[in-house]
Amino acid sequence: MTDLLYSVLDTLDEPVLLLDTDRTIVQANVAAQKLLSLKSKTPLQGQSFVRVLRNPEALRCVDEVLAGQKRAHADIQLDTPHRVTMRLMAVALETDSPAVVVSLKDETPLLQAAQMRSDFVANVSHELRSPLTTLSGIIETLQGNAKDDLEAQQRFLKIMQSEAGRMDRLIGDLISLSRVEEEERVRPTESVDLVQIVQIVIRNLKERSESADRGFNLHSESEKCLVVGDPDQLTQVFQNLLENAVKYSKPGGQVSLKIESKKSVPRLNSTVWAVSVSDEGEGIAAEHLPRLTERFYRIDSGRSRAMGGTGLGLAIVKHILSRHRGRLHIASVPGEGVTITALIPAIL
Ligand SMILES: Nc1ncnc2c1ncn2[C@@H]1O[C@H](COP(=O)(O)OP(=O)(O)O)[C@@H](O)[C@H]1O
Ligand SMILES: [Mg+2]
Repeated sequence: MTDLLYSVLDTLDEPVLLLDTDRTIVQANVAAQKLLSLKSKTPLQGQSFVRVLRNPEALRCVDEVLAGQKRAHADIQLDTPHRVTMRLMAVALETDSPAVVVSLKDETPLLQAAQMRSDFVANVSHELRSPLTTLSGIIETLQGNAKDDLEAQQRFLKIMQSEAGRMDRLIGDLISLSRVEEEERVRPTESVDLVQIVQIVIRNLKERSESADRGFNLHSESEKCLVVGDPDQLTQVFQNLLENAVKYSKPGGQVSLKIESKKSVPRLNSTVWAVSVSDEGEGIAAEHLPRLTERFYRIDSGRSRAMGGTGLGLAIVKHILSRHRGRLHIASVPGEGVTITALIPAIL
């Protein structure tokens, strides 16, 4: 085995070990050294594979190969320093020293993605099933007990309408989310004025009865605040943020909007327009803040549902901002309210 081959192994991101017929480690590349000798720092070379990995499945693979099998694999769990799932592959060589190549591949991201997909499907099914169950129940009642009760029929029709509306909003948000995700890598091209967008959103909300009692005050540092953006998507961002501010704060409370420019925002390297929406509601406890943009994450799902929420609003907002190379910042003092800020790179 040449030094050149060893240096080639060192260039690989995946940990690779070469073992002898007695399972001694003949050579370990840099990635393997980093992964497996975290605590001890002693070189893996010369150590027994069994003691380094201490995993019966890993040992089984190596032994099968030493017994004449061409290759063997297993998914093993390692605590290095957080738990990861790795696909271990043992392959026979034609020589005795080394006799086996063992490689490891981190499967955690793949498994996490699969888990997220199945959680998402379970959530969507659950969200669709509950209005559907209500509708089926009502239909049965209308065919039976309430057959000739006009008053009950009117009441049930109202519930049916609101449940159908709930399903419709959920499907609408799901379509929005998938569209935004699909376009996330395509940069928008239009030049858009945030002041104008925010004014339109305020006007639309005021026209809808449930926000009629609200005072929205808007302060903008500049008459025009231009960004490169998709006007429909940016409208959706501020609609979601303003609707939340209205829904989750006390009736009659003020909703304040501020647009200002900010330099040197962490992780954004240009000057941005920061549009903040503040309400005077009960606020959000700190432990919820990092999770609010997760799909279907709601602090009080009963309340959110009663308000017509789907739990997807902030997830959509986050994806839209990411498409605009922007960010979302959420701050809250429990008992005093919430300030959610959208940061979007500015055209100056
Ligand atoms: N301004 C706010 N004040 C208090 N809680 C909020 C506010 N905005 C969002 N939230 C919380 O975040 C959750 C997720 O918001 P969102 O994704 O828009 O879903 P939805 O409004 O459909 O429930 C809400 O259910 C609510 O618990
Ligand atoms: Mg919402």
